[in-house]
Amino acid sequence: MSELQDKINKRRTFAIISHPDAGKTTLTEKLLLYGGAIHLAGSVKSRKTNRHAVSDWMEIEKQRGISVTSSVLQFDYDGYRVNILDTPGHQDFSEDTYRTLIAADSAVMLIDAAKGVEPQTKKLFWVCHRRKLPIFTFVNKLDRYGRAPMDLMDEIEKILHINAFPINWPIGVDGHYIGVYDRIKKQVELFDNDNSHGSKILKSTTGDLNDPAIKEAIGEANYQTLLDDIELLDLAGDEFDLQKVLDGELTPMFFGSAMTNFGVRPFLEKFLELSPAPQPRKLKDGGVVMPDDENFSAFIFKIQANMNPAHRDRISFMRICSGKFEKGMTVWHLQGNHPVKLSQPQQFMAQERTTVETAYPGDIIGVFDPGIFTIGDTLTSEKNKIQFEDFPIFPPEIFAKVQPKDSLKRKQFEKGIVQLAQEGAIQVFRQKNIGMESFVVGVVGVLQLEVLDYRLKNEYSAQLLMDRLPYSVARWVYADDAEAIRNMKGLDNGMLVYDKLGRPVVLVSNEWNLNWLLERNPGINFTEVPSEARAI
Ligand code: G4P
Repeated sequence: MSELQDKINKRRTFAIISHPDAGKTTLTEKLLLYGGAIHLAGSVKSRKTNRHAVSDWMEIEKQRGISVTSSVLQFDYDGYRVNILDTPGHQDFSEDTYRTLIAADSAVMLIDAAKGVEPQTKKLFWVCHRRKLPIFTFVNKLDRYGRAPMDLMDEIEKILHINAFPINWPIGVDGHYIGVYDRIKKQVELFDNDNSHGSKILKSTTGDLNDPAIKEAIGEANYQTLLDDIELLDLAGDEFDLQKVLDGELTPMFFGSAMTNFGVRPFLEKFLELSPAPQPRKLKDGGVVMPDDENFSAFIFKIQANMNPAHRDRISFMRICSGKFEKGMTVWHLQGNHPVKLSQPQQFMAQERTTVETAYPGDIIGVFDPGIFTIGDTLTSEKNKIQFEDFPIFPPEIFAKVQPKDSLKRKQFEKGIVQLAQEGAIQVFRQKNIGMESFVVGVVGVLQLEVLDYRLKNEYSAQLLMDRLPYSVARWVYADDAEAIRNMKGLDNGMLVYDKLGRPVVLVSNEWNLNWLLERNPGINFTEVPSEARAI
């Protein structure tokens, strides 16, 4: 096997999706603990900073060094190189979260055992499911009272319409589980009750279900319940089918507690075994690039500007899709149509940034960006210039008109708006006949507007006047006759704007207003995203 293929087979790149407070930070930290990237849990400082919406964002800003290093984490376990993509943990949604999922090969859906499937879990699940991403479920917080495992399994199947296959099953009674039964290995694992409160790796004993010592340790009543549960699962449940998992049609389910480390190691090991290595990636021309293609290729999925206010730097994160990356290599920037030397590549291990010497498909690296990259850009070897398919567009649902408070700051204002749009932090629209002094911005989460306001003030010294517009639906509009669009009928309650490429877009309040327009303008085509783009 080639060196490249070997590196690919051993890489796993995934995102954890969950509702805030389900335990994503805690689980991430424990995975780092088991991977040896940290030695005592409790040392990942970002815990309190990336929680909750709005007000905390300012806090995140202050602690940017931390929040950024936690956006991509890497560790090694049992010969695997693991890349965890952090999806921001805000209550509120942002396009950033969606885009991170594009760089992943699989997702871990974390569920609070007491709460079940929560709204944000559902939203993120659907984004992954539509992309046919394999989804692994970890039911967390088993150390305290929660809902019955069967009940949770049922809820996943009913609400998310995906079949679940419990790989392991908790042993004991609610709030006092003592171990898990591995349905594939047909083995029991009983966890010690140590006093480290999860700060250290948890010891356990494994054994056969029929082993008298195991039977005794479990206790008669729990043992009988376990046998009944296993029988029920085997009879009524689905068969385990890895292909279905890889196609995103079956979710392997695990139970544990990120806090006490109960079930964490068995989950990690099985996840690494079953989850896919870096996958082929689709190209714009309809083809794919295979990860083991010797020609380097990568796409930019996240841009983080001004991470360090003292340096005003901007880092673009790329996911490597094929070939080998070597520090200092020159690659072709397709959208810019010129070569770029990737001279200061960074990787993130726990809290530290390190310089990357080499990297392989599935790896994420950050490069200093002098303002040349845009979200979705392709970087390739000069020998083989390919282009990845465009990033999906996220139909914005929240709109605001923005202008600078002080017209003398117009230049900074424009620069800020243009750069933030380039980073993918906002979508920008313009009204015809109104110059550069005001824009309409479109976002998918209110938090993005808060961030816009804060960043323009702090990074570009431009205070904003922001007026929320009463629209929630955007449609790109097409007609053979451009006049028909300018003279659209029934738009009294809406607005006609133009996107960054000058394509006309109508904004209306709701579906009812949209239907009103559809009925009155039969010669116009209304699309959720630009006709050549894909919706998420
Ligand atoms: P998030 O990133 O998904 O938002 O969640 P985070 O890990 O920050 O966890 C949210 C709360 O849930 C934290 O409690 C955390 O300790 C707790 N938690 C996480 N995993 C488990 C678990 O397996 N069992 C139990 N019982 N609790 C868990 P907190 O009190 O808000 O914060 P802290 O003081 O513990 O840091």
